[in-house]
Amino acid sequence: MRLQKYLSMAGLASRREAEKMIREGRVKVNGETVTAMGIKVNTREDTVAVDNRRVRMKTAYRYILLHKPAGCLTTRRDPFGRPTVFDLLPVYSDQHLLYVGRLDFDTEGILFMTSDGELASRLMHPRYQVEKTYLALTQGIVPAKKLKSFREGMILGKEKIAPARAAIRRVNQEEKTTWLTLTVHEGKKRQIKRMCQQIGHPVLYLKRISFAGLGVGSLPPGSYRHLSQAEAQRLYDKVNLTAPFSQNSS
Ligand code: URA
Repeated sequence: MRLQKYLSMAGLASRREAEKMIREGRVKVNGETVTAMGIKVNTREDTVAVDNRRVRMKTAYRYILLHKPAGCLTTRRDPFGRPTVFDLLPVYSDQHLLYVGRLDFDTEGILFMTSDGELASRLMHPRYQVEKTYLALTQGIVPAKKLKSFREGMILGKEKIAPARAAIRRVNQEEKTTWLTLTVHEGKKRQIKRMCQQIGHPVLYLKRISFAGLGVGSLPPGSYRHLSQAEAQRLYDKVNLTAPFSQNSS
């Protein structure tokens, strides 16, 4: 990130004022005075000071929890002009927000988005086993013994998937449907729908109710909120990454 942007995102000055501070020789990066414009700083590793006082960036990255409604695509742009999750975040359209794990067009629920690329990629990496919980309405009455195949790990296509936690929440005898919760830590394409299809109970409705311990709460579909610093810190901890705002980082 450019130094002047860093200073303005730290809430210290506008970009123009930040440029003036740099020109005046008031800004140090890793102890060295910088007067050249356009220098880049590594927000995790570099130390920035103005008038010899350390400057920490408060809001360099965005951490957004979106309640994705059904009927929109998890993609930046659709060639057919269908609605996308970015249409729900118009104020951030100029930022490099990344979504962490796609939800299908007809799936609702939590979609975590961040501009911190390293955090996003670790949260998706199988090594960190980040849990996602889904509420699924399935066709037919699912006998408890069928959940065993979820718990043991099933073969989907040619792949063996990791064991999932599974529970029956409610059975509707009249409509012949079953509400299930399934917790997985992988993110294969259409994973939950394929898992349920495999046991003979296609999904009629699907919602991601939790991601990495973050619940959808009372957030209405189509709206979003910013994570608190404590919530963002917990995500960094889960993937062994130093948060850019923690005390021991720059
Ligand atoms: N599994 C699915 O089948 N669809 C989703 O959108 C998410 C998980």
